[in-house]
Amino acid sequence: MPGSWDHRGARPPATSGCPVAGPGGAPQPPAAVQPVDPEEARSFVEQFYAEASPSVPLADRLRQVRDEIAVTGTYVHTPEELTFGARVAWRNSARCIGRLYWNGLRVRDRRHVTEPAQVAAECVEHLREATRNGRIRATITVFAPDRPGRPGPRIHNEQLIRYAGHRAPDGVVRGDPRYADFTDQVVKLGWPRPQPLGRFDVLPLMISGPDRRPRLFGLPPDAVLEVPLRHPEHAWFADLRLRWHAVPAISNMPLEVGGVCYAAAPFNGWYLNTEIGARNLADTDRYNLLPVIAARLGLDTSSVRTMWRDRALVELVRAVQHSFDEAGVTMADHHTESERFLTHVAKEESAGRRCPADWSWIVPPMSGGLTPVFHRYYDEPDPDTRPAFLPPTD
Ligand code: ARG
Repeated sequence: MPGSWDHRGARPPATSGCPVAGPGGAPQPPAAVQPVDPEEARSFVEQFYAEASPSVPLADRLRQVRDEIAVTGTYVHTPEELTFGARVAWRNSARCIGRLYWNGLRVRDRRHVTEPAQVAAECVEHLREATRNGRIRATITVFAPDRPGRPGPRIHNEQLIRYAGHRAPDGVVRGDPRYADFTDQVVKLGWPRPQPLGRFDVLPLMISGPDRRPRLFGLPPDAVLEVPLRHPEHAWFADLRLRWHAVPAISNMPLEVGGVCYAAAPFNGWYLNTEIGARNLADTDRYNLLPVIAARLGLDTSSVRTMWRDRALVELVRAVQHSFDEAGVTMADHHTESERFLTHVAKEESAGRRCPADWSWIVPPMSGGLTPVFHRYYDEPDPDTRPAFLPPTD
């Protein structure tokens, strides 16, 4: 619709809540934190009461919140409100196929933590508690929110665990090309690149506190479970020495609840096979492994019409699934998860709620038409829905 703000385009500056990216997605200069919009707070508290019916009367809580905002410019969520807010933010994530489990999200309330070193220590603890030796648990750790006059901490990494991309002078990247710029940034801040340069070097955390000065913290290896990849039939696959980390923990999407912005609120679920096999390891601008695998498989790569890429892709995803299964690390497959997502949509509808979804993100990046999520459309996401995990700003 002309003139309307959609999630793909520019958005007006936030008057409260989390700062949003400016036109074209460019990060805004760090703006002073605005007071919480009392209307945002009211509508969240009302939603919480409508769905969770807590014991304190609604009118009392609304008055309290309004008074607190009038005096301090913000308000403090009760632990129950915070848990509800984080879970509903997940439920509202239109790109996530795994939302059937939204109500099981474990919330680690660390709102008293603002200092980078402590944030880092809590991220490490988050990983340990979420990983549980492979029995992965969906977990979020919520750090101090932004308050007028005092921004909360920021985690600059896209995820808690990611692999470095080492860019050689000729432009060729060793590791994950997606993180080549970020790797350059942490090297400038003093990270010594591992020698020899690896393809799977875990990046340090880059965290800033209220003074906005970024600092680096290495992750202890025992907090980072990784799965070496093998193929169920082809022994040569292990010789490729591929691996991937067990836990996807997104760390740069602000959680906005009732007008309050929790900019540092890392959260994780567990992997879907195709995220690693059909994207991270396969995309031409990521690890780009299909030509290597096709060669080992002895496929005819002289024309796309032999479908060598499709055939190599299936074997790569099979290897990922097989390796995680054998290692006892939780991993969903695209067939089962698609079924479960439709169960979730049906449950939401019977609870009287819409379930907005982004078709292009929900449909798996391989065998789309084999999964039931392909064969229908979904309610259009509304970028103003809250609580929400928002696009990163820096
Ligand atoms: N696609 C991202 C990755 O490959 C992870 C996004 C979140 N995924 C999840 N299963 N919770 O690292």
